[in-house]
Amino acid sequence: MKVLSIGGGAREHAVVRAFHRAGAEVYSVMKNRNPGIAELSREVCLCTETDIKTVLEFAARITPDLAFIGPEGPLAAGLSDALDEKGIPVASPSQAAARIETSKEFARELMKKYGIPGRVDFRVFHFREGIKDYLESLKYEYVIKPIGLTGGKGVKVMGDHFSNTDEAMTYITEIFASNIGGGAGVIIEEKLVGEEFTIQVFTDGERVMPTPAVQDNKRAYDGDKGPNTGGMGSYSQADGLLPFLKKEDYDAAVDIIRKTVKALKNEGSTYKGVLYGQFILTREGAKVIEYNARFGDPEAMNVLSVLKTSMAEIAEGIVNGSMSEKGEFEPVATVCKYVVPEGYGIRSLAGEPLLINEKEIEKTGAEIFYASVNVDISDSGSTARKVYTTSSRSLGILAKSSKKGNEGIYEAERIVENAIKNISGRFFSRHDIGTKDYIQNKIKRMK
Ligand code: AMP
Ligand code: GLY
Repeated sequence: MKVLSIGGGAREHAVVRAFHRAGAEVYSVMKNRNPGIAELSREVCLCTETDIKTVLEFAARITPDLAFIGPEGPLAAGLSDALDEKGIPVASPSQAAARIETSKEFARELMKKYGIPGRVDFRVFHFREGIKDYLESLKYEYVIKPIGLTGGKGVKVMGDHFSNTDEAMTYITEIFASNIGGGAGVIIEEKLVGEEFTIQVFTDGERVMPTPAVQDNKRAYDGDKGPNTGGMGSYSQADGLLPFLKKEDYDAAVDIIRKTVKALKNEGSTYKGVLYGQFILTREGAKVIEYNARFGDPEAMNVLSVLKTSMAEIAEGIVNGSMSEKGEFEPVATVCKYVVPEGYGIRSLAGEPLLINEKEIEKTGAEIFYASVNVDISDSGSTARKVYTTSSRSLGILAKSSKKGNEGIYEAERIVENAIKNISGRFFSRHDIGTKDYIQNKIKRMK
């Protein structure tokens, strides 16, 4: 099978590795040359992933059996629809279906219309007028969200980012004045308290194949301090649950996703591809924070590195509408940590060299997923691979452990830490994610 893969991050490195493992021939489109993806690809097209014309030209020459789109940008830009029009099946959602991520208003209204469980109180405002009175009337703490895409950096939470109506209004004024999230407006919603978790599923529009639950950690520094980032590290457990997440909570969350897929079909926006549900486990059960029309990054690494079912078969099932609902996953725990440039989250030190001793990392048992780095091709042949940082995350390091329960997470974490010792340069990573103290704290907090 010939697969056209769109995207150049660590998430797409994980996707390409899964296709490659399934025997597919991969052709990749990406903005920066990701050395991991490039190695696994027959050919690479270096261009902006939202440059539909260039992608279509590349696709016309390659004639892939199907395409898989990693990031949300090209989905929002309609790349899926453009490929489909040229007769290339796409195992990713159409622009209309991707509204589940690109419009938080669409997602919340859909859940309300179909009475899907896991909802929160919310109100949408397309203009600034009336918001202040509304905020003053609220009896609960709230969250401010621009309706459109903000690269994961637009949400502000009361108590974390602002503490009173005046500060809330300052941000709301900024959203409208600077068109944050594309100028679609803002949602004010009830603040939820509890542990967050992610469930990602494959769907052909009708059938749903759930994957193991993952917890990502968005704060930049140890102890969940510092600015929010794209995600600093994530973990999963051998049985697909999490230390604080019981089977019934997991099932309830999957049921919410199933009902959402059904609602999308009913609305005439049949959803194909990967659907990502972000939840908070509250006292009243799992509630939806948001949907993403793609894999999470880093969460893709956790689930794809344990996927035993052929990625090629899954993708074929998605495009043909004949996907199986039962996926097979290695019963192992995973921990993935991001290596990021010094300053990441505030002001990244871009252009700094990182030396990555891939052979030594391999010996620890860990896997490398390259993200946003620049490669100096003249450096090839040395013992360590030399890459240069950009302003985004540099690479993910993932390890697995077959130990049961929390012990598996602790062991995988130690392997990752050992592997990171084989990287030198001006970077940082979190040292607490997946450790015993960290996990025990979460369990205690949920009690
Ligand atoms: P998002 O960009 O929607 O993933 O939101 C970023 C972060 O904001 C999430 O990971 C949560 O930590 C937080 N968040 C979003 N919505 C809520 C909510 N309703 N209650 C509490 N925290 C939230
Ligand atoms: N890790 C969160 C996301 O990909 O949106």
